[in-house]
Amino acid sequence: MRIIVLGAAAGGGLPQWNCGCGNCNAARAGRIPAMTQSSVAVSADGRDWAVLNASPDIRAQLAAVPALHPTGLRNMPLRSVLVTNGDIDHVAGLLTLRESQPFALFATPAIHAVLAGNPMLGALRGDLVERKPVALDQSVEIAPGLTATLFAVPGKVPLYQEGDVVETDLVGETTVGVELTANGRRALYIPGCAELPDWLKGRIAGADLLMFDGTLWEDDEMIRMGLGQKTGRRMGHMPVVETMAALQDVSVGRRVFVHMNNSNPLTDPGSAQTREAEASGWQVGRDGMEITL
Ligand code: MLT
Ligand code: MN
Ligand code: ZN
Repeated sequence: MRIIVLGAAAGGGLPQWNCGCGNCNAARAGRIPAMTQSSVAVSADGRDWAVLNASPDIRAQLAAVPALHPTGLRNMPLRSVLVTNGDIDHVAGLLTLRESQPFALFATPAIHAVLAGNPMLGALRGDLVERKPVALDQSVEIAPGLTATLFAVPGKVPLYQEGDVVETDLVGETTVGVELTANGRRALYIPGCAELPDWLKGRIAGADLLMFDGTLWEDDEMIRMGLGQKTGRRMGHMPVVETMAALQDVSVGRRVFVHMNNSNPLTDPGSAQTREAEASGWQVGRDGMEITL
């Protein structure tokens, strides 16, 4: 199985267009690597690819990765797109994929319902883009030899669907993780997760690779930095410091943080927090990072 991190940042990216925080300024100045928004590409054979989450940066992401370049006049190796929730950073890129390219679009029925409610996504022609609902815990082939199983993880509805009262630890079809299997290897992709209950740790145990929600280092970091009023948990993301502790004794072949917010000190490869995460056995996802299992 080959996995390429197309974008390692959370919604907004690094730098975020309207943010003058230290990390965003460092990325603008080239002192730390910029990061595009949340997406990974996966293949079992190196020829046919599935993209997990279609970020608003997908046009540049596809251009940056030779494995996903066109192989003919109007022909390229993308066979499917799978989205793990309806958040804008995970679905807005679908609008970019509207140029008569056939692919299958996988999501839970609830996420498909959210997408179906957006008239602009009608730009994806129904005769070319087959919308395939996937029930929780049902396996489906998303590219030749590559199987995906969606499973519920604690999370919340997309920001644009929030009402007055927001449940941040919903377990259902709105926020899912993906279990990928190919050639006898098992990888888990969980870019958003609010809690790590024992049943989820059990699912993670023994995986060859875990790509996990690295949005914030600490729960109140955006408040302390003066960037916003919300905690990570309020946004449906558990903080990295708690994730590392919760998964300390869970055996995993390789563990990688993805979906880093620009406030997160892990965006700086030279930070003390990056060293601390690496000392705990974690890697920080970066755009273009490639993993072969
Ligand atoms: C998130 O991961 O919390 C969302 O992508 C935030 C957003 O919708 O901008
Ligand atoms: Mn996000
Ligand atoms: Zn910033």
